[in-house]
Amino acid sequence: LRRLTTRDIAAMRRRGEAIAMLTAYDATMAALVEAAGVDMILVGDSLGNVVLGHETTLPVTLDDMIRHAAAVKRGSQRALLVCDMPFGSVTDPDTALRNAVRVIKETGVEAVKIEGGLAMVPTVQRLVAHGIAVVAHIGLTPQHVHQMGGYYMHGKDEASAERLRQEARALEAAGAFAIVLECVTPALASEITHMLTIPTIGIGSGKDCAGQVLVINDLIGLNTAPPPSFARPRADVAAIIKAAVGEYVSETKALRGPIPLPRRAD
Ligand code: KIV
Ligand code: NA
Repeated sequence: LRRLTTRDIAAMRRRGEAIAMLTAYDATMAALVEAAGVDMILVGDSLGNVVLGHETTLPVTLDDMIRHAAAVKRGSQRALLVCDMPFGSVTDPDTALRNAVRVIKETGVEAVKIEGGLAMVPTVQRLVAHGIAVVAHIGLTPQHVHQMGGYYMHGKDEASAERLRQEARALEAAGAFAIVLECVTPALASEITHMLTIPTIGIGSGKDCAGQVLVINDLIGLNTAPPPSFARPRADVAAIIKAAVGEYVSETKALRGPIPLPRRAD
């Protein structure tokens, strides 16, 4: 049982085998998603939303990512592990390199993921030149939520579509070994997938990418709010938790009546 490598991922793209990627944030979930066959595990900065209770991914720190990525590493044996570089950790190529080196050294993950288009090309080049495996991420990039003015589909008009094609080509040329396309119109995601040698990994971007990624909580219905429309939940784990805990609470409450308090000798 050896761990998958970037060469295995490239080979899957070549022979047309789809790449199944999911997020995980702790050792238990990493072991479970891996046992179910995922090829790549992303320790996403969606950690901020689904684990840490933040409104956006912006408050997530490098230390947060490192703590959770190290846990995922301890829980997994076979999947290729990718850790998100959080907001503010890749402000220039030198800072990005220093922070990515910390992630690699302190967690043992195989790769990092960086959100952003042309502005991130020199950063991807720098990391790749130092031997770090990089996943790019374009389209809806949640770290840019305030600048983009919300969460919506990308590539709808020709100017936006052409920009995404350019970004995808430039990030591949910079040395990224895969690229996440988030909320890119399915026709454009398909076109970019055919245009590139590296695999595209889609989320909310249709069926024609080389792989798919989802937030594990959205897949299994482990949420308190409704998941994004593109995430079709395959289970209702929130309901299972509430039922099991409700049963435990009732059983505990029914265990006994009043216990007399000890008499205190004053
Ligand atoms: O943080 C995350 O979970 C992600 C995926 C949704 C692509 O970046
Ligand atoms: Na992310």
